[in-house]
Amino acid sequence: MDSFGETEHENACQDGITRFPGIVGQSDAMRRAFDLVEKVADSDSNIVVTGETGTGKGLLARAIHQYSHRCDKPFVQINCSAIPENLVESEFFGHVRGAFTGATTAKPGRFEIADGGTICLDEIGDMNLDLQVKILRVLEEREFEPVGGIKTVQIDVRVVAVTQHDLEKAVELGRFREDLFFRLCVIPIILPALRDRRSDIPLLVSHFLQHFNAAKKKCLEGFSEEALSILYHYPWPGNVRELKNLVERLVVLKREGVITARDLPEKMRDTMECRFPSRKPELPADGICLNSALSEFERTLIYQSLEKTNGVKKKAAELLNIKRTTLVEKIKRYHSETSTLEESAG
Ligand SMILES: Nc1ncnc2c1ncn2[C@@H]1O[C@H](COP(=O)(O)OP(=O)(O)OP(=O)(O)O)[C@@H](O)[C@H]1O
Ligand SMILES: [Mg+2]
Repeated sequence: MDSFGETEHENACQDGITRFPGIVGQSDAMRRAFDLVEKVADSDSNIVVTGETGTGKGLLARAIHQYSHRCDKPFVQINCSAIPENLVESEFFGHVRGAFTGATTAKPGRFEIADGGTICLDEIGDMNLDLQVKILRVLEEREFEPVGGIKTVQIDVRVVAVTQHDLEKAVELGRFREDLFFRLCVIPIILPALRDRRSDIPLLVSHFLQHFNAAKKKCLEGFSEEALSILYHYPWPGNVRELKNLVERLVVLKREGVITARDLPEKMRDTMECRFPSRKPELPADGICLNSALSEFERTLIYQSLEKTNGVKKKAAELLNIKRTTLVEKIKRYHSETSTLEESAG
C-alpha cells in the first residue's frame, strides 16, 4: 500500500470513495469502473483500459492484478512504444545466448517473467504491426520461441492492455489488427477525463494533500473556497497526474497555512477569469448616480440580447428571463429617453 494508509483506506471504503487502495473516486463514472473491476478482476479474461493520459490507467491495471487470483505472481508492465525496434522481440520473448551480437547470456523476456501473473501491455495502440502478429500468436497458443532459440516456451499470462487511443478507430484505419483487437478487448474499461467527472476533484485534492503533507512532513490546512473553485473549473488536460503534481508543488512551496487562489498557477486563475469574468464596477472617488448606473447596465444587456437574437423580442426576453411585454416597455422607455435627450440637445 504505497500511497494510501490502511486506516485511511478502510475509512474511505466505508464512505464508498474507493474500493481499491490508492485509487480515489466517487463520481458515477468511477463507481461504474470500480464495479467492473470487481466483477472481472478474477475472470482471467483479457482487458483493455482506455483513457487520456494521467487518468489512472496504470493504477487500474495494477488493481486488476491485485484483485485477481494471480496477485501472488508477477505483474509485469511493458511500454510498447518505448522499446527500440531492434530490441522489441528480445524484450518480449527473451533470447538465447549468442542470438545476436552482444547476447553473451540467455535472457528471459517479459512474457516469461510474467508467467502465472499478469502482463500489462502499455500504449498498445503504438505497437507495430509485425509485433502485433507475434503477440496474437502468444495469446492464441500460449507459447513462443525466444530469439535465436528452437525450444518452445509455454506460458500462462493474463493480458491487461492499456491505451490512450481509440483502438476500434485504429482498426478502422488499418493501424491495429482486428483479430488482435478482438482477442484483447474481451472486457473494455474506459476511464473518463477528469473534466468529465469533476465531482472527483475535491476528493482527489484532499487525498493528495493528506498524502503529501505526510510524505513531506508539512501541515498545510487545506484550500480556500476560491482556490477550490478554480481547481474545480480548470479543464485538467493532464488529468489526475497534473492535479497530483500541482498539489505536491503547492505543499513543497507553501509549507503551512491555507492554499489560496494567489498560490495557484496563473494559467489556472486565467481559465477562471475567462469563464466567469469579474464584473465588479469601480466606484469613482467622487461618487456615482446609482439610478443612472443601473439603467445603463440594463440598457447594455437589453441591447446585447437584441443583438444576439437578431432583434427577435420574444427570444431576447427569454435570454433576460423577463416577459416580452416588460422588454417592449423598457425598449419604449429607453427610446423616449433617447429622443428627449436628442431633442433637448438639438
Ligand atoms: N483515481 C485516482 N486516485 C488516486 N490517484 C490517482 C488516480 N488516478 C490517477 N492517479 C495518480 O495519477 C498519476 C497518473 O496515473 P497513471 O500513471 O495510472 O495514469 P495513466 O492513465 O496510466 O497515464 P499515461 O497514459 O500518461 O501513462 C499516478 O501517480 C496515479 O497514482
Ligand atoms: Mg500509464
